[in-house]
This record gives sequence, structure tokens and C-alpha cells, in this order.
Amino acid sequence: MNAPLKVGVVGMGGIGYTHCNCYKNDSLAELVAVCDIIKEKADKAAEDFGCKAYYSVKDMLKAHPELDIVDVTTSGYENGSLHYEPTMQALDAGKHVLCEKPLSNEVTEAREMVAFAKEKDVYLGCNLNHYFTQPAERARKYMDDGEVGQQIYCINKVGFDGSEFGYGAPHKNSRWMRPYSHTKAFLIHPLSVMRYFCGNVTHVQAFMDRPACRAAAGDLMLSIQSLHMRFENGCIGYLLSQRGDAMFGLGGWWSFELAGTRGTFVIENCVEKLTYYKQGQAPEVMDTGLTDFGSTFPNRIHAFLEDVTNKVPKDYLRSSGRDALACLEYIFAAIDSYESGGEIVRPNPLPPLHGDVSILR
Ligand SMILES: NC(=O)c1ccc[n+]([C@@H]2O[C@H](COP(=O)([O-])OP(=O)(O)OC[C@H]3O[C@@H](n4cnc5c(N)ncnc54)[C@H](O)[C@@H]3O)[C@@H](O)[C@H]2O)c1
Repeated sequence: MNAPLKVGVVGMGGIGYTHCNCYKNDSLAELVAVCDIIKEKADKAAEDFGCKAYYSVKDMLKAHPELDIVDVTTSGYENGSLHYEPTMQALDAGKHVLCEKPLSNEVTEAREMVAFAKEKDVYLGCNLNHYFTQPAERARKYMDDGEVGQQIYCINKVGFDGSEFGYGAPHKNSRWMRPYSHTKAFLIHPLSVMRYFCGNVTHVQAFMDRPACRAAAGDLMLSIQSLHMRFENGCIGYLLSQRGDAMFGLGGWWSFELAGTRGTFVIENCVEKLTYYKQGQAPEVMDTGLTDFGSTFPNRIHAFLEDVTNKVPKDYLRSSGRDALACLEYIFAAIDSYESGGEIVRPNPLPPLHGDVSILR
């Protein structure tokens, strides 16, 4: 049996805690260190998880050359501006990195992060956890078994339920007080699900808006997004997301439908339910009995630990930095489209895959 992978987690907010709990409960990992620039947070987490506290990534890396993985759970503007620096530091030290989403709030930085991981020949993964679920696994099997056929369309509605009655304007210095904070921080999730099932996107057209209650409160965030897409395989896709401006009707807060010439599947509420429809047959329903979205975290983190333990070829890493970059390219294409009044934009191409020599063995 392989020795557990030694992990240091950077950024001890709520999500850093969630990740630490995953490592503590996973036999493939040993949580060695936690790090936060706020001393009290690092100290408290170190006490809670029985490991060492550090207040800078540099010090953590210096004290623990044996670390295999650095997990970056910092946040920043648009929930991503503080990912770049610790990720680059860890990659530079030759560590495998799991980074929270979005890889960065700037696509240029994300491109650098992916390129640098390739140069250093280490794994860079991203916590695109929304498809590490039982319904997604079963849906993927329908596809692999030829039960979906040629893909025709996909529709994804995901975001946050709410209304003007419950709206509270964010503080003016908040990470959310930016026009594209929901677009950059959140759309990565539904886009990652769409790309997981339908592949690369070649065309994006977007409209965005915010309701009057946000505008009146001086809230800059464009909280409503409507994206129309075409995939490389010819499938067409629609993504609707909003951040608590209205209640979702059909499908609740998270629904994904993929229709093909042989069958259609629908996933409801991410972890909860999968329904498969085939002409002339009663729908097949898989009800997982799960309601806790939080269950996606241990699943995704375990997959990363498995891939690193098994030394899978870098190109085959699940939910890789390149996958996360792809979704960020779509987001920046959507922003370009919105800013040009709804023009169709072709996302920037991804870095080429040159193959991993280990696949030849
Ligand atoms: N995958 C998901 O489902 C999901 C859900 C929610 C949030 N997230 C992501 O998780 C991340 C963290 O979210 P959060 O709400 O816990 O954030 P947070 O702001 O509460 O915590 C981040 C912590 O990082 C620390 N930090 C910042 N820069 C640092 C550095 N260079 N070195 C050490 N510590 C540093 C901060 O002091 C802070 O304590 C965000 O990127 C967010 O997008 C993911």
C-alpha cells in the first residue's frame, strides 16, 4: 500500500476547513500543515486538526520539504484573485496543487498557472466538484453505453434561490462588489458540468443583467447570466444562472438536462436525482437519498488523491487545471460577448496536449 500523501492547506476560511476535514477522513492523505496570513486563523485550524500552523506559504514549504500536495483555498476578488500567488509558489517548489475555483479571476494568470504546472511536470487540479456525484457517474455510463446517442442540446439552470425581499447589498469593499463577480466566481461550476458531458465549447453568446433592487443599492454585480453555446461535437447548449434574484421554478437551484438521439437524462439538485428518458419506455429514476451538496467535496478530493497516488498520466487528471482554464476561457468569452452587445465569441484555444510518454508504456 502507498504511504498517504502529505498535504498542506493554504487559506483557513470555511472552505479550507471543509478541505481539511476531507483530508483528515481520507486514508490516502495525511494533513501535515495549515497556513493562513491571519495568525489566529492558522493557529485555530492547527489546533482543530492537530497539525502545524504557518503564516506564509514560503515558511510552510521551507519547513516541510516532504509535502506532496499543497491545497489552495484562498479567495480574493471574485473569489479567485488570491489563488495565483500561493499556487505559483507551490508549483515552483515542485508540489502538486489542488486549487479552489476559479483558478484565478484573470484568465491570463490561469493560463500561466497551467503552463507552469506543465513545465514543472506536476499535477494541477481544480475543485470542480459539481460532477463528482452519483447521478453524474450514472449519467456518464448512459453516455458511454451509447444510451444517449448524438447529443442534440443541453440546458443548465443553476445558481441561488432568492428574491428582492431577502436581498441585502454587499459591503462596498466586498469581494462581490464587482460587475463580474458572479460570472467569474460561479459560472465555472455549470460550465464545468456542461464541458464534462458535452466537451469543448466553440461559440459563446451572452447576455447579463442585474435587477433594479441591486442597481438602487449601488450593487455593481451582474447577477443574471444567459449564455448560448455551441460545442465542438455540434451540440447546442444553454446556461442560465442568477445569484438570488428570483426563485428557480422548474428544476430547483441546480438542474442539467442533456438530450440525445437515443435518450435524454436530467440531473436534479446536483447530488439528488437522475432521470433517464428513452422513447417508448418508462423513465428510469435514480434517487440517491442524498441532499447534502457538501458530499461533493470528499468525492472530488478523494479523486485527486487517487489520481496522484496512482500517478495517472498528467493529461488524464480528473478536473485538471486545464479543464478549469477551459471554463475560464468560456467565461471571458461570455464577458466579451456581453460587452459587445451579444456578439458570438470564439473562446481562446486551450494549450495543446502533447501527450504523456507514460501512456506509451
Ligand atoms: N467548490 C465549491 O463548491 C466552493 C464553494 C464555495 C467557495 N469555494 C471557493 O473556496 C475558496 C475559499 O472560500 P472561503 O469562503 O473559504 O474564503 P475566505 O475568504 O473565507 O478564506 C480564505 C482565507 O485565505 C486566507 N489567505 C488569503 N491569501 C493567503 C495567502 N497568500 N496565504 C495564506 N492564507 C491566505 C485569508 O486570510 C482567509 O482566511 C474561494 O476561492 C471560493 O471560490 C468553492
